[in-house]
Amino acid sequence: VIDGHPDPVRHYCHALADAYIEGASSGGHETRLLRLGELEIPILRSQAEWREGLPAPDVVRVQEAIKWAEHVVFVYPLWLGDVPAYFKALLEQVLRPGFALPETPGLGGGLLKGRSARIVVTMGMPAFFYNLFFLAHSVKSLKRNVLQFVGFGPVRTTLIGMVEGTDESRQHHLDELRELGKLGR
Ligand SMILES: Cc1cc2nc3c(=O)[nH]c(=O)nc-3n(C[C@H](O)[C@H](O)[C@H](O)COP(=O)(O)O)c2cc1C
Repeated sequence: VIDGHPDPVRHYCHALADAYIEGASSGGHETRLLRLGELEIPILRSQAEWREGLPAPDVVRVQEAIKWAEHVVFVYPLWLGDVPAYFKALLEQVLRPGFALPETPGLGGGLLKGRSARIVVTMGMPAFFYNLFFLAHSVKSLKRNVLQFVGFGPVRTTLIGMVEGTDESRQHHLDELRELGKLGR
């Protein structure tokens, strides 16, 4: 589970990641949890660095965890209609040629084949509004242009809207994540 909330201070996203881990452990799955808020991820500045640069130690930690996993869950809050910039920095650093993509540029051939994924996104607006009005644009982009492109499949999504809502609905989504974890989905 990659908890993609940039803030190390406790947030709902952290509780969702924990709930997934709890469920997965109770279902007999072996798990690892990485919290972006506790990692040092530099900003990637060039294609040369992407291709030939030495990844920072925390980037390598994330790469090792992804290589090890059969299923990767990404949890993050929707910020300005998209992934938080620090989460994007993580994706740029981690999904490098030689790790996620072939060394020679071309279409397809993602090296992370054989792994499934789930994207869990929290947001202030109602999830149906994000789907209908914004057409879930950024989530579709992450799913298709990033995760499926590097080989993940299937990639499922869970949109959690109105996160500043009632305790009851927050609890409901924690239970939902626990159940998904148990099933390893
Ligand atoms: C910088 C920033 C931008 C945000 N942009 C959006 C947005 O575009 N749409 C939305 O529905 N909520 C937006 N929100 C609300 C967050 O999605 C919401 O606070 C978050 O999902 C709550 O999760 P957390 O408690 O784990 O931080 C934004 C919040 C921040 C801090």
